[in-house]
Amino acid sequence: MIPLCVPEMQGNEWKYIKECLDTNWISSAGVYVDKFEEDFKNYLKVKKSVVMSNGTTALFLALKVLGIGEGDEVIVPSLTFISPVNTIRYVGAEPVFVDVCRDTYVIDVEKIEKLITSRTKAILPVHLYGHPVDMDELVYLAKKYNLYIIEDATEALGSVYKGKNVGTIGDVGCFSFNGNKLITTGAGGMLVTNNEKLGEKAKFLSIQAKVVNENKSFYHPEIGYNFRMPNILAAMGCAQLENIDEYIKIKRENADYYNQLLKNIRGITLPTEKEWAKNVHWLYSIIVEDEYGISRDELIKILAENQIESRPFFIPVHEMPPYINCKQGDLTVTEELKKKGLNLPSSVGIKKEEIEKVCEVIMGN
Ligand SMILES: Cc1ncc(COP(=O)(O)O)c(C=O)c1O
Repeated sequence: MIPLCVPEMQGNEWKYIKECLDTNWISSAGVYVDKFEEDFKNYLKVKKSVVMSNGTTALFLALKVLGIGEGDEVIVPSLTFISPVNTIRYVGAEPVFVDVCRDTYVIDVEKIEKLITSRTKAILPVHLYGHPVDMDELVYLAKKYNLYIIEDATEALGSVYKGKNVGTIGDVGCFSFNGNKLITTGAGGMLVTNNEKLGEKAKFLSIQAKVVNENKSFYHPEIGYNFRMPNILAAMGCAQLENIDEYIKIKRENADYYNQLLKNIRGITLPTEKEWAKNVHWLYSIIVEDEYGISRDELIKILAENQIESRPFFIPVHEMPPYINCKQGDLTVTEELKKKGLNLPSSVGIKKEEIEKVCEVIMGN
């Protein structure tokens, strides 16, 4: 089977993890926790980086530290993994669903303004499958209406918008190190911000809002959370981060190769890269148009028969039972991409011959 997206362990993962085991520093304290935060911060050129138990907890705390809660509305695309939408509800706020652009698959900034009300407090763009959101347009709108921006960059580590790493442009950015992400710690996340106060608050809340007194007793002035990442996973994160530039390079080369092989197939629309963007192509994603002759779902079956794993685009969140009554704008593109969007195998370690095999199967129909 050619898998959709599996991790790559080419570096010091064993060495650093073994060091944790040998020294007994496996839990929430240890040098790698601090080192991972520091290395990640330096890599993204951002002021503060806070390691988290996963991307979902990072998103939740991002909303929390920005003071978003009961009665507030947050504008979010419906075409996304459900996690960011769930976190809006975790803090007691309401998601308002907005459409995406057909070529980039990410939030359509032009459709946001109509959805802004006096209750809107934030916009939560998702850099879906790797393509950056048009952040200048979004920042302009957010400033005009005094809204926060929380970037869900969980799928786009390595993508760049006008020279800036995605996740570092809004008020807070969130990353995931789930097993299928560009770099992984098995499970893990990172919250980043250029607002040091917000970052410190997020760190504090992520460690049970714990103050250690002189006599080593713990004092908790408010309700905190246990969103810590253990040292043993942070060790893996440090090792993974050492290879990130190589992984980004390979991902982009693989996307170029897919583009080259698929470019002349009638009815297959290739992913884009806007002139202002560098797309990491976390998942290489195509649109199976009507002219292709068979449906996206039929193509998924044929790929599977050929031992190739692929995945349809996310079912939009506004169709999920907890969210069917939420406010929404025009979601025409979302509805269309739901039926036609397809993620192809995108592991860093995928071989050229495997990409060729995937493309041959797509060409054969
Ligand atoms: C768009 C998006 N947001 C948030 C998350 C949540 O990250 P995690 O699984 O680390 O909680 C994911 C995926 O894993 C995702 O794809």
